[in-house]
Amino acid sequence: MSKMIGILTSGGDSPGLNAAIRGVGKALLGRYGMKVLGFRDGFRGMMENRTQLLDSAALSGILTLGGTILGTSRDKPYAMPVAGRMRDMTDVIVDNYRKHHLDALVCLGGGGTQKNAYHLMKQGLNVITLPKTIDNDVVLTDVSFGYDTALGIATEAVDRLHSTTHSHHRILILELMGNKAGWLALGAGIAGGADVILIPEIPYDVKKVAAAILRRSHNGQGFSIIAVAEGAMSLQEAAKIEAVKGKTGKQKEIQTAKEVIAGHKPGNSLLLAQQLEGLTGLESRLTILGYLQRGGTPSAGDRLLATRLGTACADLVNKGEFGVMVAARGDGYKAVALKDVVGKRKTVPLDHGWIESARSVHTCLGD
Ligand code: F6P
Repeated sequence: MSKMIGILTSGGDSPGLNAAIRGVGKALLGRYGMKVLGFRDGFRGMMENRTQLLDSAALSGILTLGGTILGTSRDKPYAMPVAGRMRDMTDVIVDNYRKHHLDALVCLGGGGTQKNAYHLMKQGLNVITLPKTIDNDVVLTDVSFGYDTALGIATEAVDRLHSTTHSHHRILILELMGNKAGWLALGAGIAGGADVILIPEIPYDVKKVAAAILRRSHNGQGFSIIAVAEGAMSLQEAAKIEAVKGKTGKQKEIQTAKEVIAGHKPGNSLLLAQQLEGLTGLESRLTILGYLQRGGTPSAGDRLLATRLGTACADLVNKGEFGVMVAARGDGYKAVALKDVVGKRKTVPLDHGWIESARSVHTCLGD
């Protein structure tokens, strides 16, 4: 009897998910004669037993599509809102795995998904994962699919903002995704030639940012573009957060810091725009790129990466190698233990080459 492999996509959608589903699915079907059962909307669909058989017709024509044909959700097996309360639905998910006589479950997603998959692995399921996120913050992989497409879109946004910002002699702040990691803002900022790049890893001093802008002004460049990650924070905000982490702050400070952390959502850069207008006397405008960064056709690089990792995943399933994430390593891949992936985040190291390059071309990083 053919083996039956389950597959789901979980967390925020990313360009390249369909290319990965296709890569895994076509290789499992065509190369290894297995069957593939998709679960709708991530772990929620697996809990509710909503399935879709992925035969060759279903896998055809999806390589270039954005989003995920399976749908996605951020639901966790062990903490799922059901009938108005948060419940641990792990047993139901495990039952459904057994009911379909699955030989393995392939989970496509970012850091949260890796953690959920690891949780199911500990219940005895044969789990294997692929790294997906436009934030590029999954550890132990060179890169995650979705990042390259988002980088292209964000870079084009910086390019397009140049002409309008230049014409009006303004400060233009472009807020990009990346709540905890600054890969997208740093990459697009360098590639698009932003004058200032602000990322969560380097708390910024707004006065230093203003000084860099005024220096440009005095040198005859009356406009500046700032690429800012949505999770970037000022020195003051960072200090408040440190106080919470170290529990050294006073009760009132802890409360404020919690508000700061909770408040790191799209739109935070509005305050930065107002502060810079006050400090420089230059008109400031804010553009929030938002979900445009996640939507639409995956880049050639993401299609290639997702197909490479997807087909490698099928090879590992065939070999019976589970409890691993298929990580990108150079032109190849490496199966890394899920236990080494979960609970960690790949942030931009402060000595990273991209940071050095940005400084070398006189980009202000806010410090
Ligand atoms: O995919 C990761 C990410 O893009 C983060 O940068 C962002 O904060 C988050 O998703 C927002 O996604 P959603 O609104 O779908 O939860």
